[in-house]
Amino acid sequence: MKRTLLLAAAVGLSALANTQAPTKPDPAKAKEIVNQICAACHGADGASPTSANPSLAGMPADYITTQLAHFKAGIRQNAIMQGMSSTLSDADMVSLGAYFAGQKPKLLEAKDASLAREGQRLWRAGDAANGVPACSACHGPTGAGLPRNYPRLSGQWSDYTLAQLKAFKSGERGMDKGGKDVNGQIMVGVVRGMSEAQMKALADYAQGLR
Ligand code: HEC
Ligand code: HEC
Repeated sequence: MKRTLLLAAAVGLSALANTQAPTKPDPAKAKEIVNQICAACHGADGASPTSANPSLAGMPADYITTQLAHFKAGIRQNAIMQGMSSTLSDADMVSLGAYFAGQKPKLLEAKDASLAREGQRLWRAGDAANGVPACSACHGPTGAGLPRNYPRLSGQWSDYTLAQLKAFKSGERGMDKGGKDVNGQIMVGVVRGMSEAQMKALADYAQGLR
């Protein structure tokens, strides 16, 4: 009995130690890694030049760090990013998160005004009949995201956003059975009742949102 208590206390203390001593980001190291590896696809300024690769500027730091850890561990599956994250240490991931979070996001425009109008309606009010919640509740009214784990969606390439919504729906993303992807699980619930037309409208609206 006494031993179990002691053990519990020790475990509690080490958990406390972990939360009290977070790794300090190293901006110089992050810049070096970005210029050598990441810039080709995500832009040196965090604004991706092509719609298949997400822009990272202005994302919450913890969101970036978590995604990198998930790619490395195969919790979020993507062959390119699993390769890119394989050599990163935990400290590198923290540094990269802070680095991209500090960059200024580039503004884009929606492609189709009527699609974006439908997207705006869904963004603000959701679709109660089909169990789709309002996006603004978690991603913010301007789509800027929220610390710590709600990504920025405004100014994101609509092709990328649409692909992610489909991936949540098909179970490609966020379906980790071991319970290691609690944030992804939230989005799996969000997209459950969403049609592809609604996904397209939301993705187009978010691209031009500010
Ligand atoms: C060869 C191109 C390429 C390179 C180089 C690359 N990435 Fe990526 N990255 C991608 C693609 C494609 C995705 C989208 C993956 C998906 O669909 O899940 C992505 C996704 C991400 C995401 C998730 C973003 C989000 O909104 O969820 C992060 C974070 C990220 N990359 C960081 C990095 C970092 C840091 C580096 C450098 C160490 C890097 N990437 C290098 C192509 C690349
Ligand atoms: C209850 C909170 C919540 C609501 C409501 C919500 N989201 Fe999310 N969303 C999240 C979380 C948490 C994540 C991060 C998932 C992860 O870590 O993989 C996320 C991630 C995403 C991503 C992936 C972004 C990227 O950079 O890869 C997209 C796209 C997205 N949400 C779109 C939407 C849309 C569109 C709506 C409205 C229909 C919405 N979300 C409503 C919590 C929410």
